[in-house]
Amino acid sequence: MEKVKAKEVKDDGLLYIIESSQVPFEIKRVYTIIDADTELPRGYHAHRDTEQAVFCLRGGLRITLDNGLSRSKIVLNQKNKGRGVIQRKMVWIEMDKFLPGTILLVLSSKEYDPKGYIRSYHQFIKEAKKSNPT
Ligand code: TYD
Repeated sequence: MEKVKAKEVKDDGLLYIIESSQVPFEIKRVYTIIDADTELPRGYHAHRDTEQAVFCLRGGLRITLDNGLSRSKIVLNQKNKGRGVIQRKMVWIEMDKFLPGTILLVLSSKEYDPKGYIRSYHQFIKEAKKSNPT
């Protein structure tokens, strides 16, 4: 699993700093996910042509990444504050075990395009096999 880390500065308040050089793509979109339902797993999709870096700034969650061949899981929480993971194109993501008050920051290589989402795992495996035949 590819990881990145925001620099944490405790000044008057807490700063997280991410330089564009730390992220392996050009950033075209930034969004946050705040106060996700702790009972509701989310994600369950892959992007055909978008790469993302997902950072947990507060709280915690578990992220599963699946490239169609193997799965890796990471827990992001206060113990590894500012840690982010890279979701490459054609990698399935699942996010669960959200702690209350969790704040995620997502950097994305493309502007929003709902057509670029694969939301069925079956379809994802089909397309992953085509783009990465073994
Ligand atoms: P979605 O990507 O489905 O969230 P998740 O898969 O993590 O549950 O996005 C949730 C909603 O927000 C959906 O209605 C689409 C909208 N949305 C945008 O309009 N622009 C964006 O850049 C993103 C990420 C989501």
